[in-house]
Amino acid sequence: MATKESIKQERLPRHIAVIMDGNGRWAKKRGNQRIFGHKNGVKSVRETVEASAELGVNYLTLYAFSRENWNRPDREIDALMNLLISTIDTETKTLMDNDIKLLTIGNVEGLPQKVQDKVAEVKAKTAQNQGLKLVLALNYSGRWELQEALRRYGEDVKNQRVDNGPHQPDLEQYLTTAQIPDPDLLIRTSGEARLSNFLLWQLAYTELYFTEVLWPDFRKENLYEAILNYQTRERRFGKTSEQVVRNKTKNNAPQYG
Ligand code: IPE
Ligand code: IPE
Ligand code: MG
Repeated sequence: MATKESIKQERLPRHIAVIMDGNGRWAKKRGNQRIFGHKNGVKSVRETVEASAELGVNYLTLYAFSRENWNRPDREIDALMNLLISTIDTETKTLMDNDIKLLTIGNVEGLPQKVQDKVAEVKAKTAQNQGLKLVLALNYSGRWELQEALRRYGEDVKNQRVDNGPHQPDLEQYLTTAQIPDPDLLIRTSGEARLSNFLLWQLAYTELYFTEVLWPDFRKENLYEAILNYQTRERRFGKTSEQVVRNKTKNNAPQYG
């Protein structure tokens, strides 16, 4: 069993992103409706948020609802929206107790008004918190985000708000993740090994970790296991292994672009 104590603090991922998957299958295995799986995923969210805060992770991004998820049956979408509201509401205490600040990425304006209101309320309430930043990806799509970024960049060029010189555009400042560092570790549960339109730009050099565990079964120990696995990886950012080992004591911030 992976333990918290075996994690090396000096190699802690600064930002962990999670594709929380497998709720429907979890419920189906128990002869229940899919929404039963979503409800049982709330405990996994709490455990993951708490464990990340306790470890000192700086950013935790959770993929809660994709743009493509609108294609699900209306009943499931309604249930997911209501669950989102009630979970943000009940978990506000966890956020306050652990000094966690709530942020969002994605097209929040495209969500039902009642969801937008709850998100805005809890963002404001946790705005002064100094610990973990919990980033909820809501109505998120990586391609949508890149298209939006390019559209807004084009507008800025047209209105001469940015210099359209022969340099690469600073696309990052136009993404919904503008103030957030790229993830170091991506976890996807339920055995699926795909990105499903998540953080397509930001995951360029992220370490990927796939586990068979279904999201409602995911506990703190599963997070520790993923982090321990991450700590065995050598992040090379295009360099050779020898260069990485030699530079270990130097500043080994990623250099790519
Ligand atoms: C993840 O579980 C939750 C959301 C996508 C909202 P799923 O609902 O995708 O569960 P499976 O993949 O069908 O088992
Ligand atoms: C990805 O899971 C989206 C979220 C976890 C919110 P999906 O279950 O929607 O992904 P696909 O459709 O299996 O790729
Ligand atoms: Mg799924």
